Amino acid sequence: MSVVPVITIDGPSGSGKGAVASRLADELGFALLDSGALYRVLGIAALRAGVDVGDEQGVANLAAAMDVKFASDEPGKVILNGEDVSLAIRTDQGSDLASRVAAMAAAREALLARQQRFRQLPGLVADGRDMGTVVFPDAELKIYLTASLEERAQRRYKQLIDKGISAILPDLLRDLKVRDERDSQRAISPLRPAEDAVVLDTTTMSLDAVVQEVLTMAHDRFGESTEGQQGEPQP
Ligand code: DC
Repeated sequence: MSVVPVITIDGPSGSGKGAVASRLADELGFALLDSGALYRVLGIAALRAGVDVGDEQGVANLAAAMDVKFASDEPGKVILNGEDVSLAIRTDQGSDLASRVAAMAAAREALLARQQRFRQLPGLVADGRDMGTVVFPDAELKIYLTASLEERAQRRYKQLIDKGISAILPDLLRDLKVRDERDSQRAISPLRPAEDAVVLDTTTMSLDAVVQEVLTMAHDRFGESTEGQQGEPQP
């Protein structure tokens, strides 16, 4: 086992990766890498800099140069070159730009080392699409979360309604299906479980149950170093 333990959480949109990863990081006192947020920030960085998202080299240069900070005191807060972009990256435009830059090999390559630098003691929980296959292929524990398309659409629907945002279930279902196909069929870093990943179908599982199951696996793999850890991760 390498010095700094990593748990990778990959899976399709709506599989609960984000919520599971964040709970695990809290429980274990590990740092958290939300790699999707990095692709989102890169899309917004291109927009702000006037770089066309079709310009692969331009986007890759931005990926290498942009100054991104994740606030450790406020979950979800992201600062790009001094600007709080936490809301901008979550808009439809942010999602669209993210999926376009995420399909570029040069942009992915430029973000690789930045993602790997999050691997710091006492450990890291990394959430994304290619954490176990590409970014941390030597991770000690790899989880691939999945759930039925209908369940994932229902979860997204509930999230939006809870936030007071109107939503239409059949539209969400259709959008998820399109994104699933795009993510799993793209040539570069397609969405798929690593060969050594534990695949968990969360369709009928609560968030608590998923977190408990992964924590049990983490304690089995990492032993005492993860028992009852608390603390403020500093990525
Ligand atoms: O998980 P998310 O919706 O925040 O991800 C935003 C976009 O980035 C989405 O199009 C998938 C892509 N992505 C990726 O290609 N690889 C990752 N490791 C994480 C996200």
